[in-house]
Amino acid sequence: MHNEQMQAARAVTRVLEGAQLRTALAEVDAHDASRGQAFVQELAYGTLRHLGRLEAIAGQLVRKPMSDALLRALVDVALYQLEETRAPAFAVVDRAVAAAGTLVRPAAKPLVNALLRRYLRERDAVNAAIRDNEVARWSYPQWWIDRVRRDHPDDWMAILDAGNVRPPLTLRVNRAVTERGALLDAFHAAGIDAQAAGAAGVIVAEPRPVGDLPGFAAGAFAVQDLGAQLAAPLLGVKDGMRVLDACAAPGGKTAHVLDDADIDLIALDLDAERLERVRDNLVRLRLSDRRVRIIAGDAGRPDAWWDGRPFDRILLDVPCTASGVVRRHPDGKWRHRASDVDRFAREQARLLDAAWALLAPGGKLLYATCSVFTAENGDRIDAFLRQHSDALRESLMFADGVAHRDGQLLPCSSGAGHNQDGFFYALVARR
Ligand SMILES: C[S@@+](CC[C@H](N)C(=O)[O-])C[C@H]1O[C@@H](n2cnc3c(N)ncnc32)[C@H](O)[C@@H]1O
Repeated sequence: MHNEQMQAARAVTRVLEGAQLRTALAEVDAHDASRGQAFVQELAYGTLRHLGRLEAIAGQLVRKPMSDALLRALVDVALYQLEETRAPAFAVVDRAVAAAGTLVRPAAKPLVNALLRRYLRERDAVNAAIRDNEVARWSYPQWWIDRVRRDHPDDWMAILDAGNVRPPLTLRVNRAVTERGALLDAFHAAGIDAQAAGAAGVIVAEPRPVGDLPGFAAGAFAVQDLGAQLAAPLLGVKDGMRVLDACAAPGGKTAHVLDDADIDLIALDLDAERLERVRDNLVRLRLSDRRVRIIAGDAGRPDAWWDGRPFDRILLDVPCTASGVVRRHPDGKWRHRASDVDRFAREQARLLDAAWALLAPGGKLLYATCSVFTAENGDRIDAFLRQHSDALRESLMFADGVAHRDGQLLPCSSGAGHNQDGFFYALVARR
């Protein structure tokens, strides 16, 4: 039996076991290929966006927590549909009950049936009972809420809310191939509503598979959030510079930096498989003939790949919790543990120290994360500056409309001037 709710529930269960949502969806698809994959994806993303609330609701409807993880996720998916979509309630309940019976075990049917019908009858009372539950209110783990509140006392609610909205489809025009006016004309001619955003971006009104957009195969644009589009201009490369992109894959910023000037670039990443995506992107964007070497290696162990010639610019886009991009990757909220923040922070400090040794005097290093946690951002840079007397943090200039505080781009809700994810940037010059 084919059932999208169950496929979404399987993906959610895999995420709660630690898998990335994209991987989990691909596994589910392989198990049970179907024409409804876009619907499965929407159910899985939506359920994970609202999981804190959905689990709190389910908790009100059962005497003890359900021990079967798949059954629990199936109920979460059905509750998501009842809470957040316009799907007819009777159809949602019928499909979930059928899936529970056929795909989990027959004895599960009455439980799912009773639970969902009770929710429909007692919705107001259930919602009242969880009103003061913060995890239900914000749909993030409690440690995450506490950390954002502590790190951003003035902005924490806006940051948490922004992470729960559907993200826009944001593109960066690839100047190696076209310019923004021409791309917008091509979109409008194809009946696609899109508008200019930021310095080089385009926001498509109705998200859709990017391969269907005019100009994709010709490399007319890259998919890149407006916040990520700020990295290359901040790095400020000039013709003739020797540049290191130390954590390059999948190459979003690599392509932008290459597009900015005639430079000699090393694109490094630990993950050889992800580096294939850098290669593919550069080919599609017509940038593979530029002076770029793609190397698999550890940025923290330059002895294995560095030729000893210092760099004029280094982009250090470190691995992080990705807490600033949860609107695009809601699985991140549930895959990470509080202890991951310290683990990432230790690795970020190691990579910063190693990269600094590769920078020429007078050169600049741009430290970047897609996190909103200060432990990965301002704290890392402050600690680094205390330990390196030859390092000077430069102030960053952002265009009007870019919401930021001390290098922290604040993630925005739709309708915001510069509709960006939550990034952090610090530019450090070497004396
Ligand atoms: C935030 S992503 C980079 C995104 C990329 N800069 C872009 O704009 O598309 C972080 C990357 O760091 C890589 N990475 C993790 N540890 C590394 C290390 N020790 N050395 C080099 N790369 C590393 C990961 O494989 C991952 O691709």
